[in-house]
Amino acid sequence: MKTVLACSFLVFISILGLIRGESTEYFIGSGIHDITGPAADVNMMGYANPSQTAKGIHFRQRSRAFIIHDKQNKSRIVFVSIDACMVDQIVKLEVVKKLKARFGKLYTEENVCISGIHTHSGPGGFLQYVLFDITSLGFINQTLFAYVDGIVESIAKAHADIKPGNIFVNQGQLLNSNINRSPSAYLFNPPKERAKYKYDVDKEMVLLKMADAKGHGIGMVNWFAVHGTSMNNTNELVSGDNKGYASYLFEKEMNGKSTLPGKVSFVRLKIIQYNELYRRAPINQFLDVLTALPTNQYYLQLQGSFVAAFAQSNEGDVSPNTRGPFCIDSGKPCNKNHSTCNGDDTKCIGRGPGANMFESTEIIGRNQFSKAKELYDGAKKKVTGPVDFRHMYVDMTNVAVTLKNGTKVHTCKPAMGFSFAAGTTDGPGMFGFQQGYTTGNEFWNLIVKFLEKPSKEQIACQHPKPILLDTGEIKFPYRWQPFIVDLQVLRIGNFVIVAVPGEFTTMSGRRVRDAVHKVSRSVVDAHFGNDTTVVIAGLSNTYADYIATYEEYHAQRYEGASTIYGPHTLQAYISKFVELSQALVKGKAVKPGPTPPNLLKKQLSFVPGVVFDSAPIGKKFGQVKQDVKSKYKVNETVEVIFYSADPRNNLMTEGTFLTVETQDKHGKWHVRLTDGDWDTRFYWHKPFILDPSSTAKITWTISPDTPAGTYRIQHFGHSKGLLGDKQPFHGTSSSFKVTTN
Ligand SMILES: *[C@@H]1O[C@H](CO)[C@@H](O)[C@H](O)[C@H]1NC(C)=O
Ligand SMILES: *[C@@H]1O[C@H](CO)[C@@H](O)[C@H](O)[C@H]1NC(C)=O
Ligand SMILES: *[C@@H]1O[C@H](CO)[C@@H](O)[C@H](O)[C@H]1NC(C)=O
Ligand SMILES: *[C@@H]1O[C@H](CO)[C@@H](O)[C@H](O)[C@H]1NC(C)=O
Ligand SMILES: *[C@@H]1O[C@H](CO)[C@@H](O)[C@H](O)[C@H]1NC(C)=O
Ligand SMILES: *[C@@H]1O[C@H](CO)[C@@H](O)[C@H](O)[C@H]1NC(C)=O
Ligand SMILES: *[C@@H]1O[C@H](CO)[C@@H](O)[C@H](O)[C@H]1NC(C)=O
Repeated sequence: MKTVLACSFLVFISILGLIRGESTEYFIGSGIHDITGPAADVNMMGYANPSQTAKGIHFRQRSRAFIIHDKQNKSRIVFVSIDACMVDQIVKLEVVKKLKARFGKLYTEENVCISGIHTHSGPGGFLQYVLFDITSLGFINQTLFAYVDGIVESIAKAHADIKPGNIFVNQGQLLNSNINRSPSAYLFNPPKERAKYKYDVDKEMVLLKMADAKGHGIGMVNWFAVHGTSMNNTNELVSGDNKGYASYLFEKEMNGKSTLPGKVSFVRLKIIQYNELYRRAPINQFLDVLTALPTNQYYLQLQGSFVAAFAQSNEGDVSPNTRGPFCIDSGKPCNKNHSTCNGDDTKCIGRGPGANMFESTEIIGRNQFSKAKELYDGAKKKVTGPVDFRHMYVDMTNVAVTLKNGTKVHTCKPAMGFSFAAGTTDGPGMFGFQQGYTTGNEFWNLIVKFLEKPSKEQIACQHPKPILLDTGEIKFPYRWQPFIVDLQVLRIGNFVIVAVPGEFTTMSGRRVRDAVHKVSRSVVDAHFGNDTTVVIAGLSNTYADYIATYEEYHAQRYEGASTIYGPHTLQAYISKFVELSQALVKGKAVKPGPTPPNLLKKQLSFVPGVVFDSAPIGKKFGQVKQDVKSKYKVNETVEVIFYSADPRNNLMTEGTFLTVETQDKHGKWHVRLTDGDWDTRFYWHKPFILDPSSTAKITWTISPDTPAGTYRIQHFGHSKGLLGDKQPFHGTSSSFKVTTN
């Protein structure tokens, strides 16, 4: 009787354990790190608009990493989503190099996947192939390593954080947040195929929820296809665009809404000195640390442990500017087939749902956040089964493809079509290619002489693309576009991530997903059958431009013109992804393929660095030039201008160029907001290019939930002396009152 009782008690306990979710399927780690690049005088990556250079920060760029391994610890994968336009080959190569130096063979090119969210408001110049660095006047080492080092740190944090947990999958439709920006090209796809889908873009958001053994959330990642072009090509503030903002909202929701002490028991704390020496403080030491340091020597950044990534998918032809393209002169809709207004493509511009680009970013970001929160809260379906991956390098310039009718074809060396120069309705063509020698772009002037007429084979291979730039046949000063790309498939049980090296259009993405799904369905595996979910992780590992379908290619709109390996590019990718997923489901190895080049040592740069900084005579760095008013109401914007220096002198990684602080009743100041927040903006201004003096305008739009009280704004930076030495400085506004009515 006693044993029976004891047994039932044990059964009871274990059932209780199950109900509490204590049986775990995986080990999971999550980590987040700052990757904000140089916020001054560096061209933004995405619109190829040479005049769109960074002049400050709206909110910081982050890298978000997740490590998942199985219970037996046999196999692990790393998925990283970064607030950058894309991931370039050199980013992945350098990240893996650093990971190998730190973790041995644990993290390699094969099991690490890095995907870009596609913001068009991040510093550029970090790609190793010529074409992508033209508008940035060549390569920018500082951007590359801000990204590389931040990614490595986010993975290291995730590694240090690994614990037993479970993963749940959920998916649902998000409407009113994306439209097709090349609907006339989409219509080239076969009617029978189009009839299978209600929309000409994917409305599906697919989400993974990660929880620890007790069911507490560790992280979330979702995939939804939409361009990061809510901020338009006039924006000069570093920003994560709609997806970066969605992540910010989700993390704030999960980690505590306030950065004020008092909520600290819920968050993991980091204490950071602005001179970049930082250390972690256990929560109970928080107040000690606060009093231990002099106020002007540090600031606080409270970051919870929850990491929320809004990853990119098959966004090739997908715009967030949901009101569609209009002519900026007449206000009428543009010519649909050509996206022009009386033949002029620069006048046809997509309109967001908001009254301005900040509002559009907010709306599209919040829509994604709300849908993700709903899916996260409702995620009940457990992911089960082995963790595995397959990776190979493929030379995309000569992949043989057999068409359905038996015809044998192959891919081509890369080339860009004429419509590439025209741009898209999210940002019309500003490349200035046709202007040749007169552009004033030294990098372009150097390379333009080496442009070649495409060979006959190349013209035939790329047909019907009219070739503007024969990038595959120019080698000067180094390769213009990749020949070798990374292809990768990751598996967490019956959840499959297909990491693609570029921007797949809606229909291209659907074809890849279907092909991979078919492979998994054919397999008798308790965890890998027709219940498998397949997602496309866009802009991963290498950037090889766009991938339109064979039919869309014949429309030769921007996406088709930028499908670089010819009309059969997509079919070639599909055959390779099928090969990878077959190897995955059968447990077979794949050949690694040719090693891609590391071109870091060959890079050329024409962006002048910081020469030196100076403040006007009689002024000091950090001194207030134009002070705040004494009183503000909520919804008003506080503005203060400081004498400042070039932000490239120190990126303030994991730090901030500004704080909004509030005073408690003992007179002590507490940080409420930093430059990572949505409500603050840091505008850097230099009167003219050779002027060593500059200013920083800091604005804070007081959100309605701000408590009444006394506030101040501080600015932090580093100045560069004539001898190259860098000195920290800071400045403080007068204090001011905020009232709530
Ligand atoms: C898993 O294996 C790796 C080496 O492959 C080791 O470094 C790590 O400590 C192991 N972790 C656990 C939780 O067993
Ligand atoms: C690029 O930046 C890295 C990291 O800051 C540095 O180690 C390296 O020396 C730099 N390379 C060049 C060519 O400036
Ligand atoms: C757009 O293209 C379609 C298909 O090629 C054609 O039927 C239609 O007439 C064109 N419309 C305009 C306004 O050019
Ligand atoms: C960008 O958005 C701003 C509003 O935020 C607007 O004034 C401007 O005309 C837009 N520019 C382009 C090129 O779309
Ligand atoms: C096979 O299909 C391709 C693409 O649809 C077409 O260009 C080619 O002419 C076809 N070949 C034959 C022999 O039908
Ligand atoms: C999955 O496959 C099994 C066996 O082929 C079949 O019975 C079942 O209906 C399928 N389920 C779905 C959702 O297609
Ligand atoms: C601030 O703005 C919000 C939204 O725009 C509005 O609902 C609120 O009433 C405003 N508050 C004050 C005090 O003006």
